[in-house]
Amino acid sequence: MIAILPLPPNYVRCTCRWAVEVPSVSRMEHEQVRIHTGRRSGLPVIIAVHSTTLGQAIGGCRLKAFPHWKDALDDALRLSAAMTDKAALAGLPHGGGKTVIASDGPLSGERRRAALLDVGDAVEGLGGVYGTGPDSGTSPADMNVIAERTRHVFCRPPENGGSGDSSPATAVGALAAIRAVAADLGRELDGLRCTLLGAGAVGTPLARLLTEAGATLSITDVDDRKKALADELGAGWLTPEEAPWAETDVLVPAALGGLLGPDTVGRLRCAAVAGPANNQLTDASVADLLHERGILFAPDVIVSAGGILHGFGVEIHHETPAQIDARLAGIGDTLATVLARARHAGTTPLRVAADLARERRLAPVPAG
Ligand SMILES: NC(=O)c1ccc[n+]([C@@H]2O[C@H](COP(=O)([O-])OP(=O)(O)OC[C@H]3O[C@@H](n4cnc5c(N)ncnc54)[C@H](O)[C@@H]3O)[C@@H](O)[C@H]2O)c1
Repeated sequence: MIAILPLPPNYVRCTCRWAVEVPSVSRMEHEQVRIHTGRRSGLPVIIAVHSTTLGQAIGGCRLKAFPHWKDALDDALRLSAAMTDKAALAGLPHGGGKTVIASDGPLSGERRRAALLDVGDAVEGLGGVYGTGPDSGTSPADMNVIAERTRHVFCRPPENGGSGDSSPATAVGALAAIRAVAADLGRELDGLRCTLLGAGAVGTPLARLLTEAGATLSITDVDDRKKALADELGAGWLTPEEAPWAETDVLVPAALGGLLGPDTVGRLRCAAVAGPANNQLTDASVADLLHERGILFAPDVIVSAGGILHGFGVEIHHETPAQIDARLAGIGDTLATVLARARHAGTTPLRVAADLARERRLAPVPAG
């Protein structure tokens, strides 16, 4: 068991047995970062709490294999910072955090359970300043295991009192965002060419919604079995190698992040990028490259907020389905405002979104 001691704000708590150094402590923006070797699993468990200015930090638990635990730390730092902006832009009284379990391969059975219990202990040890939920590699059922050790866990299955899978709501929010992007391009969803990268938990319902709205859809996934979805919807099917560079109106990233970097932006043949994948840009300067190429980039911190709006709306704020629907539709309104401000100021939507998030953090939204 690891004691939680009061720490100065710019301190990286590191008790894992691989610890040798941590990145740029002098420029650290996070309130606290906890790294430790799971007592049961032996795996590095990292929790980054970026901000609690607006309220409890929230952010899912990612379970993924990394070449080195420090890559997992980088992921936790970036994702938790993005969560702060995501919560602020979604109008939620929360800050951003993230858990990353750096696994050494697929985890199942007792080892998976051990890692999740380790996360539960770590979350509980933070005393409620941070609450976790599902993310890439974890599910609502996994949250039941974490809940054996802490009550600061969200999106458990509905039969266990949680709000369940947030992916359908994420898809609804992403659709609202793509509609706002279409409007900014002077178009409607009907007839809009969309290329969906990744037909997983979010991509699959989003593909259905886009098809229902009349979009002309192409789909790709590294998993060939997803071609059945394309066939069912009458959508095109592209290989993962060709899809990001195919000519389209809106590229819709719905797999893992990091797709857009200095070496890839030049290859894009789309008018806009708008999808729910987290952290699509390798770094913020890529937004400038997209802007220079005349490609409209919808910040993923806005597009992907449907899941948290649903999960926290249901479990913490006890909102009705109608209130949550209104919040999901509001993703489109927020994005439309950001795109209009960016156009007016001749700057990138990412910069406007960051400014808006900062404004909201300085003027906290009322709880409830
Ligand atoms: N699930 C949510 O509610 C939620 C909320 C906010 C953000 N997100 C983000 O949305 C993205 C998708 O989440 P998800 O829950 O659907 O994940 P998922 O794992 O269910 O689906 C991802 C899909 O992408 C495919 N894929 C992986 N690499 C690919 C590649 N290079 N090219 C094409 N396809 C590829 C996978 O085979 C899988 O089908 C992630 O970035 C996640 O962080 C999800």
